[in-house]
Amino acid sequence: MPTLTRDVSLPLATNKHLLRWVEKMAALTQPAAIHWVDGSAEEYDSLCADLVAAGTFTKLNEQTWPGCFLARSDPSDVARVEDRTFICSLSKDAAGPTNNWVEPFEMRKKLKGLFAGCMRGRTLYVLPFSMGPVGSPLSQIGVQLTDSPYVVVNMRIMARIGAPVFAEIDKEEKRVVPCMHSVGRPLAPGAKDVPWPCNPDKYIVHFPETREIWSYGSGYGGNALLGKKCFALRIASAMARDEGWMAEHMLILGLQNPDGEKAYVAAAFPSACGKTNFAMLVPPAALAEQGWKVTTVGDDIAWLRPDANGRLRAINPEAGFFGVAPGTSLKTNPNAMAALYQNAIFTNCALTPEGGVWWEGMTDTPPAMCTDWQGKIWTPEIAKVTGAKAAHANSRFTAPAAQCPTIDPDWENPAGVLIAAIIFGGRRATTTPLVYQTFNWSGGVYAGATMGSEMTAAAAGTIGQVRRDPMAMLPFCGYHMGDYFRHWVKMQHRLAEVPRVFQVNWFRKGEDGKFLWPGFGENLRILRWIVGRCQGRCRARETALGWMPRYDDLDWTGLDFPRERFEQLTALDPKAWRAELIGHEELFLDLHSHLPKEMIFERELLICRL
Ligand code: GTP
Ligand code: SPV
Ligand code: MN
Repeated sequence: MPTLTRDVSLPLATNKHLLRWVEKMAALTQPAAIHWVDGSAEEYDSLCADLVAAGTFTKLNEQTWPGCFLARSDPSDVARVEDRTFICSLSKDAAGPTNNWVEPFEMRKKLKGLFAGCMRGRTLYVLPFSMGPVGSPLSQIGVQLTDSPYVVVNMRIMARIGAPVFAEIDKEEKRVVPCMHSVGRPLAPGAKDVPWPCNPDKYIVHFPETREIWSYGSGYGGNALLGKKCFALRIASAMARDEGWMAEHMLILGLQNPDGEKAYVAAAFPSACGKTNFAMLVPPAALAEQGWKVTTVGDDIAWLRPDANGRLRAINPEAGFFGVAPGTSLKTNPNAMAALYQNAIFTNCALTPEGGVWWEGMTDTPPAMCTDWQGKIWTPEIAKVTGAKAAHANSRFTAPAAQCPTIDPDWENPAGVLIAAIIFGGRRATTTPLVYQTFNWSGGVYAGATMGSEMTAAAAGTIGQVRRDPMAMLPFCGYHMGDYFRHWVKMQHRLAEVPRVFQVNWFRKGEDGKFLWPGFGENLRILRWIVGRCQGRCRARETALGWMPRYDDLDWTGLDFPRERFEQLTALDPKAWRAELIGHEELFLDLHSHLPKEMIFERELLICRL
């Protein structure tokens, strides 16, 4: 079993503010030990070995899944908890009606109580991380104090962590975002730990003015890996508003044409609505042969900023993928499969008797038997009767981005990549057509602002219910949604040239309840049209919503797709759009005191056109 020879209790930084803060927080939480995280491979291996010994991790078969581990969470701690997520700005009005708000003084008092002694019997890890490449002017630094070694090893994949980040903190006097995290389950002396400690009482709290994060009670995903949603979206969106940039729930991909020309697009789809799959798209064989190629910059978060020439550039602040496992297969997403077969951590997937992982949709035929995500025996026969899933619907893989075969050569370019188009995409069985281009920037902001999507297993809640999810940021915007729309509108004035804006929907269903559009690799046909529109190379027809491709405006090489089906996918149903516009109005009523007038005018224009 690998053990560390280094004395991990010795501080790895000299920054006085940091040292004082760690001391203060240790006095509050009273851990049994402090471990300064250097981010080395030895440290990672030793922590993983500890997690195996604790029963949190199962080591997978080294031959077939080298360097991989499986974790099973507590059944009550399987997704983000939006109703326990708080934006504690000084005024309620600054957080807006789409966020949970508690008066910050009151919340601090509450947190002080929760965190007092909460790490007893555990180790406090001092985990420094950089969102974006270390030292890039677009990057931001955080330090997470956590009592979860599971979080430390996951963060080593998801962000740049450890010694180089401490060096940056010492060198730069850069402002650091303090991130407190506890699973909220202190250990009494001699007590035996559970494999997945957590607390039924959860608090995911953000203080946007002081740029602080406090997370209590959960060890899962976005609740606990604080660099991701808490920092890179909720806190960063508030920073971005103040500083004139954008922090968005977007993938970034590059499309290369047969002449070798490349264009990048950023796309905002809500949680579990296809970002990872789109970012790693495999072109259909017939188009790959012609030389079309997709490269991956990021699969979940984009930080976008105008460059010196007034053009929008984006970086992916993350270093890994925390991807939805179910549905990922060699057929749907071979690039994700290639990225995750080694050095990955799986959470809430099923375990096969051969020591591998499995999830629904990975293979056509399920294994004859496996251990499900709750540690129970699962067989296809049992599943037929009970409907039990082997893997949880929000089971995930944590995999290094560098292992993705399509990773873009510029994915770590500190200057970012130039963004030609912004794409919004919800999950809608009806109403929203396959694709359209909005008439202009403010029309694009309107399309994003009013986006509706069916809820998924990525968050606790009612799956399938349509809700407004503006720019896929409903759970992630760190301030008033109306001000956020205004910030989007204003970005136009900061840019010499704005990206073109599009709306897509891969999820429209026919009367038989089946998806009308094959999706996945075939989405390339839509992506080509999108990029072609930005370059003035593709034709379109004008509709009430915006510019739409005719059947003959798309390249159907290698796909036998019926014209009538395409008409069905792009049809605008006046009745459905009437209801849709009422939905838009409801959102606007909630936001009215902060809503930019452009949104009201865009809605009026849309009503007139429809
Ligand atoms: P988060 O990590 O939660 O932000 O999710 P995501 O947006 O990255 O979603 P992801 O790509 O993991 O896809 C989620 C689910 O949508 C998976 O079950 C996919 O199989 C499915 N999916 C992705 N793309 C398509 C598509 O083009 N068509 C259809 N029908 N399903 C898709
Ligand atoms: C999402 O829910 O959008 C995710 C997963 O990407 S989590 O990191 O848990 O937020
Ligand atoms: Mn996401």
